[in-house]
Amino acid sequence: MLVLGIETSCDETAAALVADGTTVRSAVIGSQVEHHRPYGGVVPEIAARAHAELMLPVIDRTLVEGGATYDDLDGIAVTSGPGLVGALLVGVAAAKSLALATGAPLVGVNHLEGHVYATQLEFGPLEPPILALVVSGGHTSIALMAADGTFATVGQTIDDAAGEAFDKVARFLGLDYPGGPEIDRLAVDGDPRAMAFPRALSGGGYDFSLSGLKTAVIRELRRREAAGEAVDVADVAASFQEAIVDVAVAKTVAAAREHAVEQVAIVGGVAANSRLRQAMADVCDAEGLRLLAPTPALCTDNGAMIAAAGSNRLVRGERSPDDLGADPNLTLEDATGWAVR
Ligand code: KG4
Ligand code: ZN
Repeated sequence: MLVLGIETSCDETAAALVADGTTVRSAVIGSQVEHHRPYGGVVPEIAARAHAELMLPVIDRTLVEGGATYDDLDGIAVTSGPGLVGALLVGVAAAKSLALATGAPLVGVNHLEGHVYATQLEFGPLEPPILALVVSGGHTSIALMAADGTFATVGQTIDDAAGEAFDKVARFLGLDYPGGPEIDRLAVDGDPRAMAFPRALSGGGYDFSLSGLKTAVIRELRRREAAGEAVDVADVAASFQEAIVDVAVAKTVAAAREHAVEQVAIVGGVAANSRLRQAMADVCDAEGLRLLAPTPALCTDNGAMIAAAGSNRLVRGERSPDDLGADPNLTLEDATGWAVR
């Protein structure tokens, strides 16, 4: 089964061809990062316009690189939420038009569900239950994928998303956008114990709070600046990163234990973070848990993860209606039954 996956929820115009939900035949990303860099963050209106310009060339290239034609498609999967509504609508409109023109079945996919299914492209068909740490620019949550494939949110951020915290601290440090990879790179040469930043809500429960950490970093830098103390940016990056990683790893493993789940997945853009990957691998090793951490290119937004999740739905016989819409606030719980049977 060959499925075209389309992803336009944020600032990547992405498409991919995936065979049998597990094998990437081709994957193309038309990055808009240069469009947004001058603003230090994603500008929704610019994203929507750039998606409109990039969408068809990206789909064309995906087919050419995958050696396929429209007639070969057994299904079309598209991110229908959550995300920026104007951005989502471009992908949804493209997918609906293609489905209508080719007769291939259409299926809407939850973006967060897509991030979880990215693991399937690397580790083969998912065998839930899986406890997933979903950490991206817009979302931070711990989700339980039950044996029947349905999702339940176990905990989530009550303020900033992890990627958002990385990006905001990076911007304050004068680093390039997106800031996550920049902090990751700098932190390699820093001391994670140089500064003691807060680990909010680490006492228990599975919710996160990250806005206080960002404020603490900014306050500490201002204090040192006022006192005329030198600041080692690598130390700041490493100490900030460690605070996020510490809490994320501890909560994820505690949730896996509480729900008696033996597989842990880390997914979403921040799962590309080298320190998070290492720390999670160490703990999973020590605890006897199986870690599913997709390669960094599959952590950040891509079309293949949407095709993988969509393939699963199509195999179950799910279809979305011709008037599929975009839902900017779609939750992981909505993922189940989103497509109309
Ligand atoms: O999943 P994603 O590509 O888009 C959303 O769905 O939001 O995640 C993007 C986020 C950005 O905030 C980016 O800074 C962060 O993932 N990110 C990283 C790394 N690579 C990307 N954060 C920390 N370390 C990284 N290596
Ligand atoms: Zn994402």
